[in-house]
Amino acid sequence: MPIAVRWLLAAALLLAVTPASAQTPAPPVPAAPPVPRAWKTGDEAAAIERRIDDLIARMTLEEKVGQLNLWGRGDEFRMEWVEQGRTGAVMNFVTPSEIVAVQQHAARSRLRIPPIIALDAINGFATYMPQPLGQAATFNPRLVELASYWSAREARAVGINWTFAPMIDMTRDARWGRVMEGAGEDVHLASILAAVRTIGYHRGGLATSAKHYIGYGEAESGRDYNSVWIPVSKLWDYHMPPFQASLAAGVFTVMTSLSAMNGIASTADRHLVADLLKGQLGFRGFVVSDFESVKELIAHGQAADGSDAVRRAFGAGIDMDMMAGLYDAHLARLVRDGAIPEAAVNDSVRRVLRVKMHMGLFEEAPYDPALARRDLGTAEARAASLEVAREAVILLRNERGILPFKPSVRSVAVIGSLATHQADWQYTENAGLPRVISPRLTDALAAILGSRVRVTSAPAFATHCSLAAGDTAGAVATARAADVAVVMLGEDCEQYGEGTSRAHLDLPAHQQALLDAVIATGKPVVVIMHTSRPFVLTRFIDRVAAVIQAFHLGTEGRTAIAEVLTGRTNPSGKLPMTFPRATGQVPIYYDRLPTGRPRIKNFRYETGYLDESMEPLFPFGFGLSFSRFSFDQLALASASVPRSGTVAGSVRLTNAAGPAGQEVVQVYVRQRVGERSRPVRQLKFFQKVAVAAGGTQTVSFSIPVQSLGYHDDAGRYVVEPGTYDIFVGGDSNAALTASITVTE
Ligand code: BGC
Repeated sequence: MPIAVRWLLAAALLLAVTPASAQTPAPPVPAAPPVPRAWKTGDEAAAIERRIDDLIARMTLEEKVGQLNLWGRGDEFRMEWVEQGRTGAVMNFVTPSEIVAVQQHAARSRLRIPPIIALDAINGFATYMPQPLGQAATFNPRLVELASYWSAREARAVGINWTFAPMIDMTRDARWGRVMEGAGEDVHLASILAAVRTIGYHRGGLATSAKHYIGYGEAESGRDYNSVWIPVSKLWDYHMPPFQASLAAGVFTVMTSLSAMNGIASTADRHLVADLLKGQLGFRGFVVSDFESVKELIAHGQAADGSDAVRRAFGAGIDMDMMAGLYDAHLARLVRDGAIPEAAVNDSVRRVLRVKMHMGLFEEAPYDPALARRDLGTAEARAASLEVAREAVILLRNERGILPFKPSVRSVAVIGSLATHQADWQYTENAGLPRVISPRLTDALAAILGSRVRVTSAPAFATHCSLAAGDTAGAVATARAADVAVVMLGEDCEQYGEGTSRAHLDLPAHQQALLDAVIATGKPVVVIMHTSRPFVLTRFIDRVAAVIQAFHLGTEGRTAIAEVLTGRTNPSGKLPMTFPRATGQVPIYYDRLPTGRPRIKNFRYETGYLDESMEPLFPFGFGLSFSRFSFDQLALASASVPRSGTVAGSVRLTNAAGPAGQEVVQVYVRQRVGERSRPVRQLKFFQKVAVAAGGTQTVSFSIPVQSLGYHDDAGRYVVEPGTYDIFVGGDSNAALTASITVTE
């Protein structure tokens, strides 16, 4: 959500506030799960099409256009428009009374078509789950599904029925502020998670929107909204698979991108939307523009004025106009003038009504505001938040086993307002709805360590939302007086998501200065990076005892971090993105193509940099555990396999030292020789496996040979015979290797 809209929302909510109830805890009433959203099939689906025929036959042109408008909270919006049939969908209403009003107005409209009520319910509404990038770090699809389920279920409790999620844009560029909304750099992981997120939101009672179609994450130089250039082969191999996975999982709608790909704005790209998505891929839901992206066709230089923008966007296959108001202003006239056939409008209306009917909106009872009290901030949601966060914590460094804290540690200094302040930014803020407070790290630590260990704190920055420099001297003194200093650094509340690109990925100067001063005390330092993207840790990594990476982990994130610090949880998170040594290496990713001059002898005429290694600081898939895992006995079921077959094998995983723990078995594949260069390795299988202390597990894997191919420049998929190398291990540098021949 743009910051301006977020601000507007907060201001409007302030007016609806019921101060006395702001802190009221949710009553512990067990809640019945919502009915999952799902496409109907067979006779039911056929009956829906007949019902749509009947409805469309009774609609005026204005009522049809009304179904294609998505309006929301803002200066212009009038609730009467819902009653007039002028808008079939609304967004950004989050108080139960407003939702009831929207529904009542729709019920008074001539045809009583129920509204779709939308919100960016991404990783929470009252109880927050880790950000999607943090969810991806679990490498655990079950937990990602669970996080989506609870995010949906809480939004559902205030009457929302459509989420603008999952965001499944692929990106390899940490400068782009929206990396936190996706699943990281790897297309295999991202595709699996795109599917489970879609399913989880549906199970929680929301319809979904796969976004942003397509290529938004390739924004040149990581600058949000910038142009993207994607060749056909890369489009199909890298950007399409998560969308195909979400479509296969039954996503209801697709949102276009704000950007232009190969010189054509996605919202005006007929080939991408009408031909490919609705035609070739057979998508039968509706396509919604992004926020005002119909109007932005003018700024893109692809439409002369509002009317022209409608002609371009509607002609490209965009069924619904989000917030631009241009379909409302021009579409009916364009139809009357013969510039747009009414049959095309009917097709778009059919798609919107189809989604509404398959969602079950026509049969649904009016929203009951009691749900908000019952279903927000429940103990179950908090437990889910903790369960996901535990596996999302990534341990990047742990020198001389500083973590978990030894019994000899008698005092811990916690530094940084991200750790020492409560956090509670959420949609329910000021809305008179139950608020869910995220505990301070200090409190979470003290609760585990008890009176045996003294936990002291120093905020060092202004507030938990603004990391402007604060009392550095006080922080240093606090560190000096303790056995260990835990320093939480990172990004402000508003420094992630849309419009937050960075040109520098190092710590801001005053954070680095604070850290240097704490390191200078000589106390062992544990750094917690609370960021929404990979940062460059090179300037301090060798000078601190431990580093934990936490991608905004949600309501229970700091509890999970405290559990890791104290050993109550053995970390198992893995990096879903490569961590660079320097911003100048970005985009840096593991599944790169080889060059004709690989780095072997380290001399000038090999690929690399004059002033930096070409290796990342931490590779994709990396994350430490308190256990020491080792892999051996890699065995393939056969030395050769036909193209129609499966690469089957197994590997032994041993928990050689330390407590019981979980390791992510990662299997990468490289095609040695092909018609075109193939990536140096690509993840094709992963599985999180629990192993008892000192125990072993034999883990089997199977990879369909059909998944080892690629697309050529004409978009044809090819799987070539030849030798394929297999690499198995706990990160993308996996060293255990075998090879297999794929035959015709
Ligand atoms: C974002 C979308 C979001 C929409 C509605 C846009 O600016 O790009 O991802 O769903 O706003 O809030």
